[in-house]
Amino acid sequence: AKIRILSNKKATKHRNFDSPKKHRAQMPWVDVEDSPQSKRMQGKRPRLNGHIPNGHSAAIGASPPSNPNPNGTGDTPTRSGKSSSLQEQRRALPIALGREKLIARIRQNDVIVLLGETGSGKTTQVPQYILESGIAGTGMVAVTQPRRVAATSLAARVAAEQTVKVGTTVGYSVRFDERSGPDTRIKYLTDGMIVRELLSDPILSRYSVIIVDEAHERTLRTDLLLASLKGIQKYRSQPSDAKGKGRASLLNPLKIIIMSATLDAEKFSKFFNNAPVEYIQGRQHPVQIFHSAEGQSDYLTSALRVFFQVHTDQGPGDVLIFLPGQDDIESLEKSIQLYANRLPHKSMEVVICPMYAAQAAGQNSKVFNAAPPNTRKCILATNIAETSITIPGVKYVIDTGKCKEKQYLARETGGGFDTLLTRDITKSSANQRAGRAGREGSGLCFRLYTEAAYNNMAVSAEPEIRRCSLTSSVLQLKCLGQDFQELDFMDKPDYDSVVSAYKSLWLLGALNNSKELTPTGRQMAAFPLDPVYARIVLASKEYNCAPEIVEIVSVLSASSKLFVDISDQRDSAAESRRKFRHPTGDHLTILAVVKAYQEIALAENKAGRREWCRRHFLNERALLEARDIRDQLKLTCARFGISFDEGNSALLQPDGVTYKQTMGHTTVKIHPSSALSDRKHPAIIFNELVYTNQVYARGVSSIPKSFFMSIPTLNQRHS
Ligand code: CDP
Ligand code: MG
Repeated sequence: AKIRILSNKKATKHRNFDSPKKHRAQMPWVDVEDSPQSKRMQGKRPRLNGHIPNGHSAAIGASPPSNPNPNGTGDTPTRSGKSSSLQEQRRALPIALGREKLIARIRQNDVIVLLGETGSGKTTQVPQYILESGIAGTGMVAVTQPRRVAATSLAARVAAEQTVKVGTTVGYSVRFDERSGPDTRIKYLTDGMIVRELLSDPILSRYSVIIVDEAHERTLRTDLLLASLKGIQKYRSQPSDAKGKGRASLLNPLKIIIMSATLDAEKFSKFFNNAPVEYIQGRQHPVQIFHSAEGQSDYLTSALRVFFQVHTDQGPGDVLIFLPGQDDIESLEKSIQLYANRLPHKSMEVVICPMYAAQAAGQNSKVFNAAPPNTRKCILATNIAETSITIPGVKYVIDTGKCKEKQYLARETGGGFDTLLTRDITKSSANQRAGRAGREGSGLCFRLYTEAAYNNMAVSAEPEIRRCSLTSSVLQLKCLGQDFQELDFMDKPDYDSVVSAYKSLWLLGALNNSKELTPTGRQMAAFPLDPVYARIVLASKEYNCAPEIVEIVSVLSASSKLFVDISDQRDSAAESRRKFRHPTGDHLTILAVVKAYQEIALAENKAGRREWCRRHFLNERALLEARDIRDQLKLTCARFGISFDEGNSALLQPDGVTYKQTMGHTTVKIHPSSALSDRKHPAIIFNELVYTNQVYARGVSSIPKSFFMSIPTLNQRHS
């Protein structure tokens, strides 16, 4: 292969963000455009390895057009914005040409595996084709996604294409947020939510078609779903008399569509009794790949440099930077903004669009809009932008080579826990990331790692079932009357992880000594929470502290971190948060923050709240997310008679006269009729509040202040 080193002259042409020497040392890229690896990125989509079973394979859709725009302005008909309507955009997608053939295939087969390059239209179009052609009958079409932000943004897009509002014909359901109703026919859900739906509807009777999207990610929930679907499909396809009495005999057979951009198609096909594999011929333009000449120790700084090199050296086209997680995204966003503000006036403007799984619905909508004239979008994304979400306009990809991966750390003593570790990506991810630069025209991909590092990468990731905690899944299956180890999984879970999951559930009282589900276990499964948190919420009923516990658990379950941690301001952050600090530690400190924020929220407008959070180094997004989670949890609590009356307890204030409610915002005095009214008490509980000229607590008893200083421990064992 011809290897060319970019001349240093070119590499150091723009360097208004660092000294030339350092810059030069970091910047020489090795151009490997003729290496076998980069050839794979060019022109036609490569054939997949391995044979395709039963000769069922067929290419659907357009043959790739010769690059319409070799100099790559990044503009294509679908991007020219206002002139092309959504319907025109739909018709221009690669999948559209093979529409009728695809519909016929779906009609003929109970299961198909559908492969197509990211952006070819699988996720948005297939459910609409099914609906429009009547294949779904009166049932619903479910489309599962591993990430909530993909589910919500795809539902928004498809609703727009159908010219309806989200929550009507097209809806979504993600943890702690649902927009669907009686009219919903196409529902985008996270794979976790559909597994949860199994609990109330074990044969998914409301659905005629289940589309398992992004199946290559092999999340634990996807694997669980695939295993369950096999059984459900078998049950629903039995002749109606064999299904026995009642409802089941009215059911249509269930159709299953497995979709992905990169997939071990043969493995999925085999798992579903040699189901046919269909290919959508995508449009992949050549992508020139550059590896860094040396390993990069600080990928954030490298990404910053390369971004500005691209920004100042290269023509129009948006830049997509792959980063491991939200923290890195936020930190790079700040530094890019800082340097962008210092660029000379004639430079293109930079619009930064962060994109990660924890974003709320709609928060990232600007990422899908074309950049205004003379601006360049810089998208900072996690691996969500690898395949789940297609961002138009991208011509340059900067790949840090890192991702965050859930990893289960089993402990010898039992239990164990999931952690998110930053680690090197796989070859399959690296290729997907590079491919994002070539969707609309030829593109460039800068890898912040060496070619040798690429060659050393694992081919693809291990399925989650082999590396994540199984506790919550074991519990959910128990509620369906199934045992984890009896299910037919694509990859068998590790024996130790299964044992560890059963042990955790037994310790939490969800299973009895005979491994049977207890009533507590069934209640735990009803909470969309980690089983440990669900158990704590249930226990809080006995200790009359449900409101407090739910507040804390909500913060712990939010996907963003509450405390903003900026390394060079750690001291001032600690100082400004000192007043929240609780002697017992972090949990009640969290509660103090939540309560303080609730008071601020009553007193201040949006800007005031934001400023308050900034001043205390708190992440308002985490607080808002926690508030939504709390509201959802309250509903589940109500089902189990867990009361949410504001806690009838209060602590003495420094003035020695008034008491402040431990939950709620009211300051009270002890009613003059009370036996306790003549003395100070560090802490009180009371029956009721009465409002006269002043708020009084009536029916008061004194309790030790220490009651508020410890969280009750879970020390019960259920048999
Ligand atoms: O699933 P697949 O990767 O094959 O493609 P898709 O997600 O169905 O996307 C098809 C087209 O819709 C792409 O060109 C996207 O850019 C566009 N799209 C969009 O503009 N806004 C969204 N929220 C989702 C998709
Ligand atoms: Mg898709």
